[in-house]
Amino acid sequence: MSEQYVIAIDQGTTSSRAIIFNHEGAIVSTGQKEHEQIFPKAGWVEHNPKEIWDNVREVIGQALSKANLTRHDIVSIGITNQRETAVVWDKNTGEPVYNAIVWQDTRTQSIVDRLAGDEGVEKYKDIVGLPLSTYFAGTKIVWILENVDGARERAEAGDLIFGTTDTWVLWNLTGGVDGGIHVTDVTNASRTMFLDLKTLEWRDDILADFGVPKSMLPTVKSSSEVYGVASDNSLLREVPIAGILGDQQAATFGQAAYGKGEAKNTYGTGNFIIFNTDTEIVKSENGLLTTIGYKLGDGETHYALEGSIAVTGSLVQWLRDNLGIINSAPEVETLAKTVEDNGGAYFVPAFSGLFAPHWRSDARGALVGLTRYVNKGHIARAALEAIAFQTKEVIDAVNADSGVPLTELKVDGGATSNDTLLQFQADILGVPVVRPVVAETTALGAAYAAGLATGFWSSLDDLRANWLEDKRWEPNMDEDERARLYRNWKKAVTKTLDWVD
Ligand code: G3P
Repeated sequence: MSEQYVIAIDQGTTSSRAIIFNHEGAIVSTGQKEHEQIFPKAGWVEHNPKEIWDNVREVIGQALSKANLTRHDIVSIGITNQRETAVVWDKNTGEPVYNAIVWQDTRTQSIVDRLAGDEGVEKYKDIVGLPLSTYFAGTKIVWILENVDGARERAEAGDLIFGTTDTWVLWNLTGGVDGGIHVTDVTNASRTMFLDLKTLEWRDDILADFGVPKSMLPTVKSSSEVYGVASDNSLLREVPIAGILGDQQAATFGQAAYGKGEAKNTYGTGNFIIFNTDTEIVKSENGLLTTIGYKLGDGETHYALEGSIAVTGSLVQWLRDNLGIINSAPEVETLAKTVEDNGGAYFVPAFSGLFAPHWRSDARGALVGLTRYVNKGHIARAALEAIAFQTKEVIDAVNADSGVPLTELKVDGGATSNDTLLQFQADILGVPVVRPVVAETTALGAAYAAGLATGFWSSLDDLRANWLEDKRWEPNMDEDERARLYRNWKKAVTKTLDWVD
C-alpha cells in the first residue's frame, strides 16, 4: 500500500493553512493564504467568513498539489482554529448575517458591564472557568443579536446558527446547506462562556442571562472522533473529519504536553501559555483561565490553566503596517539587532486591553521611557521584549498557581524562528526555552487528533516518540539586570490603565 497522510486545516487569525503530515509527524507540504483584517472602528476587528471558507478550500488544493497527492492519499482531516471568533449565519442559505467578530474585538465592553452587574466579572467563573470579558464568543453573539436588523427574530425562529471558525469550516466542508453538520469540540466550546466545564453541557441559565437561544449553538463533541465526511465541494470528498481542537489546545497536543504540569507557549498573533492540570479542574488565584485541554472520544476530559496574551506577533505586524518601520515581520529582528538594548524604551501593546493576568479591557497601549536617544531599532527591540515580558507575567502566575516553578518552557509558533526574542525570553525567565523540530505544533496537534481517531496513530506514546528537540536557549543574564528590566516593565504596565473614559 502506498504511504498515507493526514491533513490539518489551521484556520488562524491572520491566515488559513492546510498542512499535510506523514506518519512521523513531519510536514510534507503546506498551503497558506492570508485574509483581510477589517477594522471598522477603534477596537473593532472583523473577518469575512466567506473569504475564510474560500481560502480554506484554496489552501487544501495548494497543499495537495504541492505534494502531488489526491484525496485518496489522505486518511483523515483535522481542524484547528482561532478560538472565540464568532460567526452567525442562516442555516437555510449559508449566508453570514454579519462579519465574524474576532477574539481581539473589544466592542462588547458595555455588554460585559451589563452582564457583570453588581456581582462582577467573575460571576460565572466557577462554572465556565472564564471571567466575563470581550474576549470570549458569548458577548459577540449578543452584540449581533442586538445590532443586526432582524437577527433576534430569525434566531428565535431557529434560522440562525452560531459557530467559532472550526464549526463554520466544518459545516461548510460537510456540505453547508446540503446537510452540513453543526458541531464543535469541547475545547472550542469552553471559550464561549456557556459550557459547564464539569458536565460538558451548555448552561441554560447562562444562556438565559445572555439572551442567546440554545438552538443557535452547535452540538458539543470530543476533540478526536469521526464527525462526518467532506462533501464534494472541496478536493477532499469522502475523507473523514476526525479531529477538532482550538489552536492553543492543538499546539499543546502537538507539543506532546500530555502529562500533568507540562506546558507550552505559542508565539502567534498573541501568545498563549497552556499548563496541563490533567483531569483536575483547577481554579486560578492569579488571573489565569480554566479551560479544556482535550478529550479523546469517550476518554476522560483533560483540563488546563491558560495565560492568554492578546498582542505579541500582531505588534510586529503593527510596526510593519501602521508605522512602516519594517517591510516584513522577520525584519523586526534585523532592526532590533542594530542596537545593544532597549535604550530605556518599554512598549506595552495593550491594543485589546490587557488579557492575562490583568484582565483590564480599559487598558490601552503605551510606549514609555522615550528620549531623543531612542530610535526605531530601540522600538523594534522594545516590541520583542514586550513579547517576552508579557510571557514572564503569565509564567509567574502559572508558578504561583501550581506551586511548582516551571524548569523549562516548550515553545512553538512563527516567532520562534527569532533568536533574539528567544534568547531574551530565556534571560528574562531565568529558565531554558526549548523548541521542537516541528514548530508548527498547532496544525500537528489537529492532525494527531484526527489520526488517532482513524487508527493512523495508535496511542499518545506513538505521538510522544515523534517529539524531537531542535534548539535550546539557556538563560544568560545576571539576576540584578533581570530584576531591573522587569521592574521597569511593571512600571510601564501601570501607564496603560485608566485611559478609556
Ligand atoms: O484565543 C485566540 C487564539 O486562539 C488565536 O490564536 O494563533 O490565531 O493568534 P492565533
